[in-house]
Amino acid sequence: MFAIVTSLRVRLFVILCLIGGSSAASAADEPTGRPLPVDMAIDRSIPIPPAATHHRGREIARTMHFTGAPWLVRDSRQREEDCRLLLEALAIKPGQSICDMGCGNGFYTLELARRVGPQGRVYAVDIQPQMLHMLAEHAGREGLTNIVPVLGTEIDPRLPESTIDLCLCVDVYHEFSHPEQMLAKIRGSLAAEGTIALVEFRGEDPAVPIKPLHKMTKPQIRDELGAAGFMVVREFDRLPWQHLVFLAATAGPPAEKKP
Ligand SMILES: C[S@@+](CC[C@H](N)C(=O)[O-])C[C@H]1O[C@@H](n2cnc3c(N)ncnc32)[C@H](O)[C@@H]1O
Repeated sequence: MFAIVTSLRVRLFVILCLIGGSSAASAADEPTGRPLPVDMAIDRSIPIPPAATHHRGREIARTMHFTGAPWLVRDSRQREEDCRLLLEALAIKPGQSICDMGCGNGFYTLELARRVGPQGRVYAVDIQPQMLHMLAEHAGREGLTNIVPVLGTEIDPRLPESTIDLCLCVDVYHEFSHPEQMLAKIRGSLAAEGTIALVEFRGEDPAVPIKPLHKMTKPQIRDELGAAGFMVVREFDRLPWQHLVFLAATAGPPAEKKP
């Protein structure tokens, strides 16, 4: 009997040592710069209505595939889009909650995270997990911990309500397969003074070397966003190829649907 109890005690001791040893080892060996966790918890039971081909007369572009991600970090991007000027125009303040909607591989997310600082937060939303994993790895390597990568759906970016000070949408709105649902959710996510910063290649400008399907005009922006309950509050017209339009939610409900 004594022998059995002793042997059990010894086994328990060995198990406890192993558990203790392994947790101590994992704490000590914790890799720095590991990818950030990606919130993948979408509710797949919520049905997504079939996508329309057009929205208020505009043909909806297909989503840029994640294999095209290197284009988003191409060397010529600064010269073509003046990304630094765009970031300055956003006038980000430390401590703000920003959403980088359709963040892709995080070209803007990382700089937004630096600008809001440790007290701020950047919700990086995309519908392609591969894009989010690229971003999460990059952010981890840079030691940026104030980014929340979120897998959204075509109808729901899964943002917290009444929180976002600025929802940056660079080259993504024209890809929304369900613009009305997305804008309704974005509207609900904005803080009291929150705005959308919509960035789209200029549809009016034939000198901008982008396919027409991936461009938008200002009248289209006003029409579509107006119908979803937004009004233009500021326009920044100094980017080389893109419109930058700031929009806030109107007080009333969204306007009636156009036939
Ligand atoms: C052309 S990329 C732009 C990426 C990034 N904004 C940039 O400028 O580097 C468009 C991104 O929007 C994402 N996207 C498309 N529809 C979306 C939706 N409904 N919600 C969130 N992301 C979406 C795509 O998966 C793609 O990564």
